[in-house]
Amino acid sequence: MSIKPWLFMVSTLCGITLAMQAGAQQSSSQDGPRFTKGNALVRPADYREWIFLSSGIGMSYDPAVGDPPAGSPAGPGFGNVFVNPSSYRSFMKTGKWPNGTVFILEGRRSSTVGSINKNGWFQTELAGMEALVKDSRLPDGWAFYLFGRGGTIRETAEPLAGEELKRAQCSDCHSKNAAVEMSFVQFYPTLLEVARQKGTLKAGF
Ligand code: HEC
Repeated sequence: MSIKPWLFMVSTLCGITLAMQAGAQQSSSQDGPRFTKGNALVRPADYREWIFLSSGIGMSYDPAVGDPPAGSPAGPGFGNVFVNPSSYRSFMKTGKWPNGTVFILEGRRSSTVGSINKNGWFQTELAGMEALVKDSRLPDGWAFYLFGRGGTIRETAEPLAGEELKRAQCSDCHSKNAAVEMSFVQFYPTLLEVARQKGTLKAGF
């Protein structure tokens, strides 16, 4: 049986288009959360290649991250916030976070008067790492994770729950005070503008 050349071309093109669509779908979820042992979140190795939302300096709601020991040249702690790229792109279109959004809050210590620096603060070693994931499998749709403080940052973290979550107050504070869903968009200047335009800010912002 002979295949007509045009038919062959059409079917080849369809095949390529389908393959490209599958690739696109795959890449949009590839940067989402990876779980192990059921619900333990694997610390994303490449979060430093994600979208940078902002840095807070000395934002104290968590005294354990970046507090300098008395009398040391260390300054206030920095909090660097990253989000997975596909969720960022979705937010830019809708002003909302899709299921599978992962935020990383990286705590860094700081120092001053080093190298050519004479004033102000620059970031130094890792002081802690936390994550927030939008996860539709859970009753309230979001999960908080603590990968560790100081030098010990674990490879995986269980979602905080029960007494532990109550003590850490993660969801209490975020649900009461965050501007968009559970996220502190009021502190991420470029996102704040997008949420304003899309009308997704909570009342009062
Ligand atoms: C008293 C309020 C408060 C508590 C308690 C709190 N957070 Fe936050 N969280 C904030 C604020 C404010 C920001 C914005 C930080 C910034 O801009 O650097 C933030 C940002 C974050 C982010 C970045 C994404 C976002 O939501 O904007 C993560 C991840 C995060 N917190 C995780 C946690 C975890 C995990 C806990 C509990 C162990 C926790 N937080 C407890 C106030 C709180």
